[in-house]
Amino acid sequence: MSENKVHGTWSSRWTFIFAATGSAVGLGNIWKFPYITGENGGGAFVFVYLFCIALIGIPIMMGEVLLGRRGRQNPVQSVSSIATEAGRSANWKVIGVLGSIAGLLIMSFYSVIAGWAMHYAVTTLTGSYVGATPDEVGTAFDALLQSPVALSFWHTLFALMTFGVVAAGVTKGLGSVARFMMPFLFFSLFILLIYSFILGDFSAAFSFLFSFDFSALTLDSVLVAMGHAFFTLGVGMGAIMAYGAYMPKGVCLGKAVLTVGFLDTLIALLAGLAIFPIVFATSAIEPGAGPGLLFVSLPVAFGGMPLGAIIGALFFILVTVAAWSSSVSLIEPATAWLIEKKKFSRVKASGLVMFVAWALGFLTVFSFNEWSDFKPIWLLSLTPFDFLDFLTSQIMLPLGGLLIAIFVAWKLPLPVVQSETTTFSQSMRHIWLVILKFVSPVLVIAVMIAKLYETLLPLF
Ligand code: TRP
Repeated sequence: MSENKVHGTWSSRWTFIFAATGSAVGLGNIWKFPYITGENGGGAFVFVYLFCIALIGIPIMMGEVLLGRRGRQNPVQSVSSIATEAGRSANWKVIGVLGSIAGLLIMSFYSVIAGWAMHYAVTTLTGSYVGATPDEVGTAFDALLQSPVALSFWHTLFALMTFGVVAAGVTKGLGSVARFMMPFLFFSLFILLIYSFILGDFSAAFSFLFSFDFSALTLDSVLVAMGHAFFTLGVGMGAIMAYGAYMPKGVCLGKAVLTVGFLDTLIALLAGLAIFPIVFATSAIEPGAGPGLLFVSLPVAFGGMPLGAIIGALFFILVTVAAWSSSVSLIEPATAWLIEKKKFSRVKASGLVMFVAWALGFLTVFSFNEWSDFKPIWLLSLTPFDFLDFLTSQIMLPLGGLLIAIFVAWKLPLPVVQSETTTFSQSMRHIWLVILKFVSPVLVIAVMIAKLYETLLPLF
């Protein structure tokens, strides 16, 4: 298969790992994981999430990277040429098509939330939360949500930043951004953790996160946990496939993916352990506070900390950078497709893709103010933001992941899989393939069918 000229390659194994970690670690870990854990009752939800990471997310991620490195093109054309070469239908490219669209939809709301983090970097630095009560912090957050102008401003700025990196080409600057960001992110989470440990209610947080009370678990929570496993790893829509296309041949994709999965999970758990002690020590904040949880809990902590304005601002800058290195991967599949298939220049391609996602972002901007009561039946009684989140995380990503698992484990000839996994030991390859063949797809199908059944049953 020909190496495509528009694709560079990462300079080394570590550059791939840093870039892939940059894609995985983002708002999903620091913003979304804590708030959905709070909404879904804690422990049992965390357990199901970890289970899904290990048995669904990571095995499928290996399959997705394999496809990218084998195909060496954008996800649409990679899958269609691999399928054709293997004597299978070129229609498998639906994996890439569905994924590129999912990436755009996710980007649209991701950029708005990343905008919140940018707003918080500024307001924390200017001392807005110094000595503030939880109520005051909550009021300030509501004021932000009530201002479409402020939300649009930050959303637009973040969209431009993402465009800037993708227009320059992801293999150029991205690896180094992630390389510097990751140690700093660990460090600042660590400081927060110590603060929470000393001044928050750490034991309440710990038992909330790790006491597995399965009676509280609902089918919806299971679906949310599974969807989040895909979301947080950045799997199921071709993003990591596009990155795999830039991966040098001799690198072990198994070890690389395991490393990324481990770091991603670690950061999510650290974020949870930093946030929940503050939540439980503050009666004004509920664990189930929803998407605002990060933004109403941490400013309270920063407000009471020595040097809180500076540490807090640094933290929100790190969150912004983490979101930035993730958002790039969301629009890379569609961008690479426009470049390779439609012969766009990289600047035009990324500009067009980012423009569409930016415009769609206004659905999310207005979901928090003008349209907060707009929950039509045809959006399943959700706001546009909640609907987009549901559609992508709980339907499109699991579906994409399912197709990847079936395609790699069932449709690719074994020699092809073997030639891409020569660095795997026999037993490791065997275990991985058994999971990818039987365990991951069965779990995804079971959860989705159960949910469909539960939704449709009342209609009859
Ligand atoms: N994983 C990122 C996060 O946790 C978001 C993300 C980046 C993503 N690329 C993706 C989600 C691809 C789904 C698919 O914030």
